[in-house]
Amino acid sequence: MFKYSLHAAVMAMAMLFTQAAMAQNAVPMPEQSAAMAASAPRDPALRPVFDQFGGKPGLVTLMDDFMVNLMADARTRPYFADTDREHIKLELVDQFCVILDGPCTYTGKDMERVHRNLGINRAAFNALVEDLQKAMDKNKVPFRAQNKLLAKLAPMHPVVITK
Ligand code: HEM
Repeated sequence: MFKYSLHAAVMAMAMLFTQAAMAQNAVPMPEQSAAMAASAPRDPALRPVFDQFGGKPGLVTLMDDFMVNLMADARTRPYFADTDREHIKLELVDQFCVILDGPCTYTGKDMERVHRNLGINRAAFNALVEDLQKAMDKNKVPFRAQNKLLAKLAPMHPVVITK
């Protein structure tokens, strides 16, 4: 419980920081907004974190568990019920691998386009994060490594949450 509140604090701080940064630059630089819409950029400082996730095989197992959680969760299941979940898992592996500076390339759709018509609200976003945390716990990803990844995902919320 306490652990989840700490996770929530990391996400909330990262989200607030993004909102403040966006408010300051009312018109973001084109390359900044494009990068955020596409995905989170690679961060070479996170290579050790990539190893703590168990490298690419670790991410594959993590996404299997993550998708099981998403489908077992009444708050997220409706979004994923009619999708190609195997494909989404492959894209998520590549996306997270890139964020953690692993030897991968993300060739999936940009984040703004893929989530545009899904009607995702903050509650659904938070539910997905909780399901990811459960999967990371199950895979024994160290708590600090979990927070490093979450801090990279949080800034994507403005393009994912549309309602
Ligand atoms: C930071 C948060 C998120 C990230 C990084 C993320 C990442 C992704 C990625 C990589 C894909 C696959 C793109 C492709 O097919 O090329 C995807 C698809 C999808 N995401 Fe997200 N997502 C996030 C949040 C959410 C949330 C909160 C929901 C709903 C609760 C959601 C629902 C979906 C659905 C339904 C698809 C499949 C869309 C389709 O096949 O048309 N995502 N996401």
